[in-house]
Amino acid sequence: MRKIMVANPKGGCGKSTVAVHLATWFARSDEVVYLGDLDRQQSSRRWLDGRPNSATTIRHWQTADEAFAPPPGDCNVAILDTPAGLHGKPLKALLREVDRVVVPVSPSRFDMLASQEFFAELAETKAVRKERVGIAIIGMRVDGRTQASKQLVEFLQQFDLPLLTCIRHAQRYVIAIDTGLTLFDSHAAPGADGEQWQPLLDWLVSRR
Ligand SMILES: Nc1ncnc2c1ncn2[C@@H]1O[C@H](COP(=O)(O)OP(=O)(O)OP(=O)(O)O)[C@@H](O)[C@H]1O
Ligand SMILES: [Mg+2]
Repeated sequence: MRKIMVANPKGGCGKSTVAVHLATWFARSDEVVYLGDLDRQQSSRRWLDGRPNSATTIRHWQTADEAFAPPPGDCNVAILDTPAGLHGKPLKALLREVDRVVVPVSPSRFDMLASQEFFAELAETKAVRKERVGIAIIGMRVDGRTQASKQLVEFLQQFDLPLLTCIRHAQRYVIAIDTGLTLFDSHAAPGADGEQWQPLLDWLVSRR
């Protein structure tokens, strides 16, 4: 079973957007996918409630009182959306349970500064140091060819964390999510936007 957590204590950086995209991408490959939502806002949960019956199946995974609960036995892929502000003991407890952590970061100076402590915390966590848990950083709402993405790469160098890919700002993300869908549900090829996700998807299915 793959257990993937999407996290960054900075609010609004794209955690739920990434979580639901990953869930739909795995569901498209006939995996039994469970989506858990530790956030009180329940954005991913609500998205799942609004998902059309005709779309690929993603199951809800009930997590107990904002804490981790093991995914059901038939689960192949568990995706966990997490709240803003996650740090300290709850973060450490989650890092003991998952295999991969995806961290969306927005290229603004404020967002990078807000994520700084989180990256330092990740780096000193035993599971990360021992490479039991893999960390992937993705730029969210950023064009990989811009100065902003270069600044993001430079910022991440101090933590020895590579920037895996950049997902551009596009209204299609907002529209799809409003309808319980994502880019990966579309019958039309996701095109250049799909290509931006590919390094992350390849990393998630790779052996480490
Ligand atoms: N690539 C993108 N292009 C355009 N809009 C985006 C993109 N990614 C996210 N958004 C929008 O940005 C807003 C915040 O995204 P999202 O809710 O995924 O962030 P979050 O980190 O889960 O927030 P919170 O910390 O409040 O849980 C949403 O309105 C979402 O639709
Ligand atoms: Mg969210």
